[in-house]
Amino acid sequence: MKILVTGGAGFIGSHTVVELHNAGYTPVIIDNLYNSNREVLAGIYNIIGKEVPFYEIDCNDERAVRDLFEKEKFDGVIHFAAYKAVGESVEKPLAYYENNLMSLIVLLKVMRDYQVNKFVFSSSCTVYGQPNELPVTEDTPRQPAASPYGNTKAISEDIIRDHVISKPGIKAIALRYFNPIGAHSSAEIGELPNGVPSNLVPYLTQVAAGLRKSLTVFGEDYDTPDGTCVRDFIHVVDLAIAHVKAIELLNEQTISDYYDVFNVGTGQGHTVLELIKTFEEVNNLKLNYNIGPRRPGDVEKIYAQSDKVNNVMKWHAEKSLADALKDAWRWQEKITKSV
Ligand code: WQD
Repeated sequence: MKILVTGGAGFIGSHTVVELHNAGYTPVIIDNLYNSNREVLAGIYNIIGKEVPFYEIDCNDERAVRDLFEKEKFDGVIHFAAYKAVGESVEKPLAYYENNLMSLIVLLKVMRDYQVNKFVFSSSCTVYGQPNELPVTEDTPRQPAASPYGNTKAISEDIIRDHVISKPGIKAIALRYFNPIGAHSSAEIGELPNGVPSNLVPYLTQVAAGLRKSLTVFGEDYDTPDGTCVRDFIHVVDLAIAHVKAIELLNEQTISDYYDVFNVGTGQGHTVLELIKTFEEVNNLKLNYNIGPRRPGDVEKIYAQSDKVNNVMKWHAEKSLADALKDAWRWQEKITKSV
């Protein structure tokens, strides 16, 4: 089965391409390389030992997307391609709404016209805002997103749901990620943040590599065990495998207008300081960090209840926080050497 992976040269997309191949699927990548580069394709090749077809296409370019669907007969689509920087989305909301929503609409229209009827969407736990209950389940009410980025994910879920209900014959799943971290154990692919990383782990590994002076922990006065925020950190390879499981679930679905959402997290929360300590222990190094003020918009604590994905998709997070932080450091050492 041939699966189109939009944003397949990105962090989660590239790891998903590897796992699709491992599961016997034929992935095809489209990516506009806005937030990635062609070296990722070489990394994928080094892992799976074969060339994955790649087209440099922007999902907003309807003509190019239609030409591709004319050329390649897809059995399904996994849609990662989107702008994803929370802070940047606050500065450039129109760019985020236009890019993230229009690319989705183009894809859904072209899929409808070419009768491609399996769709997996990259959503985010950010749709829950600061949840009133923990752990969050899929029934936890969504809250107004703390950023335009998060809002594009919530609106996208509604677009997909309403489209599926209109019975074009498409089945769809939205995966609500928690905090993806780590890298492939081969250190051939991993996270390649543009500029100054806004996310915790890439910033932390750059400090450990001596590329940055110190990690600032944003606040230690939260109502948590050590005062720092709690997150559900999930290994990117586990997350990638969840996408393969989602495609397999859609293959088995007989309901033509099937749409559902799944939390994809470990079900465990860890504080920022616990992550730092684990990183130091597993990699046997001392990290330079300081405590700073809270970051506006940060949620105090959030972690998943993942019973649904465990029971329905038979998927469980296999890798630990320690595994992810070992893999993240191995990857950082690799790319720091190549600088
Ligand atoms: C995690 C924790 C920070 C940096 C975002 C998006 C989410 C998803 C993952 C795409 C927070 C703290 C961070 C630093 C710190 N993205 N931190 N110092 O904000 O939980 O989630 O990225 O899908 O949708 O919202 O991730 O890694 O930025 O922060 O103390 O230099 O680490 O305060 O508590 P976040 P993050």
